[in-house]
Amino acid sequence: MNRYIVLAAALAAAGLVAACGSDSSGSLGNGEPGGYGQGTGTGTGNGNGTGTGNGNGNGNNNTGSAPPPTSGPGATTGAAHQYFDANVYPSLETTCGGCHNGGADGAPKFMVASDATKTYSNLDARGDIIVDASTSQLLKQGAHDSNKAPALTPDQVTKINTWLTTEAMERVGMAAPVNVLSKIGTCLDQTKFNAIGFDKLLTTQRKTENANNCTGCNQAPCRTCHTGGDGGYYNAMGSGLDQTTFAKTQTAPFISKYIGLNGTTPVPSNAIMTKSQATQTGAPYSHPMFTLSATQQTALDAFVTDAITKYTNKQCGQ
Ligand code: HEC
Ligand code: HEC
Repeated sequence: MNRYIVLAAALAAAGLVAACGSDSSGSLGNGEPGGYGQGTGTGTGNGNGTGTGNGNGNGNNNTGSAPPPTSGPGATTGAAHQYFDANVYPSLETTCGGCHNGGADGAPKFMVASDATKTYSNLDARGDIIVDASTSQLLKQGAHDSNKAPALTPDQVTKINTWLTTEAMERVGMAAPVNVLSKIGTCLDQTKFNAIGFDKLLTTQRKTENANNCTGCNQAPCRTCHTGGDGGYYNAMGSGLDQTTFAKTQTAPFISKYIGLNGTTPVPSNAIMTKSQATQTGAPYSHPMFTLSATQQTALDAFVTDAITKYTNKQCGQ
């Protein structure tokens, strides 16, 4: 069953809207049989800019476009990076690249064909290289996309665990992502965050979707579903929880939707833009389609750039 259809039925029965997103771990739907893809629509959306690149063309640092550091955590010469290149990447690329290279079926693009280094950088920028493997979204994801995406094999789980354990040894202490991200979290500017206008960002109904039949697909604010942190994204803007939204955005894992890492250097994660692009090609009744206006994207980039600049200038309590 499609999780959004399930929600629609539950909401109709309960007569309330706040029922989406009661999962604060961000792991809702892990391994859920069924997933998306219900219906026979073509899912071509409304022609709203199906990007093909890995970035956003806005002139800011695209995810994974920064070259890896030449030494220390994240360096291509490091044991962890080399293990990823030799073992994790080839295995995941075969199983997952079909969708995650190019965004097929509404998959967020975080893998790059024949390029382990860029894939590694993308994962780092998305906050997916983490010291505590038990919170890894890669490990938690399970079967998805209506079971078209398989769960990891035991061999893949072992490889990812070995890789993340090696990363932890390299990154722990001075370089632990949580340290860098928690410091930069204190530097986020609430005025700049508010200027993005998330309270006014609404979903757009796909031509293939029936507004009476969907949850949140038709002119719904993000808070309809994201007050529980689904997908590691917290957004309750416009509901009286603006302060909570900002406070959560300052902390892991939620900050990763804005800022991730290149080794020990913070970089834009562009996760919201990547998700927006993914929704343009998503199947009917999959994650609702949404598109940031140019003004919203500019404000989002300014918010992220401001924090990274402050961190670079050591103004974040380092
Ligand atoms: C048939 C296409 C397809 C394949 C193959 C696929 N995925 Fe996905 N993946 C998706 C779609 C669509 C989404 C977004 C919706 C969702 O989360 O269910 C997604 C989302 C994800 C996410 C969540 C992104 C985030 O940061 O929140 C992760 C992690 C992920 N996939 C990992 C994998 C892994 C690992 C594999 C290989 C074992 C894989 N996927 C194979 C289609 C696919
Ligand atoms: C109908 C419920 C619903 C609505 C409305 C909704 N979302 Fe989501 N969102 C989800 C669920 C469930 C997930 C986790 C599965 C997935 O990735 O699709 C998610 C995941 C995400 C992710 C994380 C995926 C990743 O790859 O990093 C982002 C970012 C996101 N949503 C942004 C938004 C924005 C922005 C809006 C408002 C324009 C919005 N969502 C509206 C349900 C919703």
